[in-house]
Amino acid sequence: MTRVIKVTALPGDGIGPEVVPIAIAVLRTALAQDGAALEVREALVGGCAIDQAGGPLPEETLAACRAADAALLGAVGGPQWEDRPMDQRPEKGLLGLRSNLELFANLRPALLFPPLAQASSLKPELVSGLDILIVRELTGGIYFGEPRGIFFEDNERVGVNTYKYAEHEIERIARVAFDLAAKRQGRLCSVDKANVLEATDLWREVVSGLADEYPQVALSHMYVDNAGMQLVRAPKQFDVMVTGNMFGDILSDVAAMLTGSLGMLPSASLAADGFGLYEPVHGSAPDIAGQDAANPLATVLSAAMMCRYSLGLPAAAARIEGAVDGVLRRGLRTADILGGGGQDGVEQIGTKAMGEALLAEIESGA
Ligand code: IPM
Ligand code: MG
Repeated sequence: MTRVIKVTALPGDGIGPEVVPIAIAVLRTALAQDGAALEVREALVGGCAIDQAGGPLPEETLAACRAADAALLGAVGGPQWEDRPMDQRPEKGLLGLRSNLELFANLRPALLFPPLAQASSLKPELVSGLDILIVRELTGGIYFGEPRGIFFEDNERVGVNTYKYAEHEIERIARVAFDLAAKRQGRLCSVDKANVLEATDLWREVVSGLADEYPQVALSHMYVDNAGMQLVRAPKQFDVMVTGNMFGDILSDVAAMLTGSLGMLPSASLAADGFGLYEPVHGSAPDIAGQDAANPLATVLSAAMMCRYSLGLPAAAARIEGAVDGVLRRGLRTADILGGGGQDGVEQIGTKAMGEALLAEIESGA
């Protein structure tokens, strides 16, 4: 019997509706080659949900995700929703998906595709062969800690957020990172600010306490300021990095840029039961939305991660990643990954043409 895979598509805002259909088409083709069928249901999240359904995360969207094997999200946000109160902003839709679906483990690989070594802002020799995996805690820390808000104190307003982690939250994300490191190069760097913040002092203690259970993994610790510096100084020293929600947000943007463009970085946000929300790390890029200029590769690579982490189809994942590598080797580039320009055999193309090239690549490999 044909396996039917149910995916909820959440195109969202900005360039999301341009890149998600391309990733879905590529996913459909890759799955068909494994004899699996794809059933897609679209749902609203973010600014488009505010406009069409009255809030950033409609109940039907959560229900559609719960009924699916996995979800694929484009991006949320845009200038037209920026001056709304915090709890009615598009970003709340994404944060609500993460917390309601308990997507505590965010995997953000920063992998350099060899043809893009020129597009990195660092020298090619510093980034060639780069393969880092950032494991970011996604449902706790300062993003969700209480109390939070803007309050009155001594006749002026004070803004308050709370950086808080319970031991079990630290332990479960650390175990995900140890397990992944064991399957890679066996090196795990835990990033904290344990010299200043008690919450991360506890983080360091809990992570250290697990090290004996993973003898095949070499654990190290680094303060976040140093980690930011090391990422741009000598990024290849890292294999897997594990860190809290806010530091992971920042470091993953830094790591993404090392690979040439934010437009290349996929991510997986996983729950304990294997359900995952897959999304590019880049945002909604309103400045280029609707111009056929967006890079769909981060979303396509997110679909590959879906095959690997939620669907148990590593061969389909490898085919999608191979197609991305193939189009890049053929010199096809969206504007964001052109690099310095002037390279022989490099051709700038739009979003749709990139999608067609990917489909041709994946079909020729069948
Ligand atoms: C990310 C984004 C989000 C975050 C925003 C859009 C809420 O920057 O996924 O990295 O801060 O987590
Ligand atoms: Mg971010």
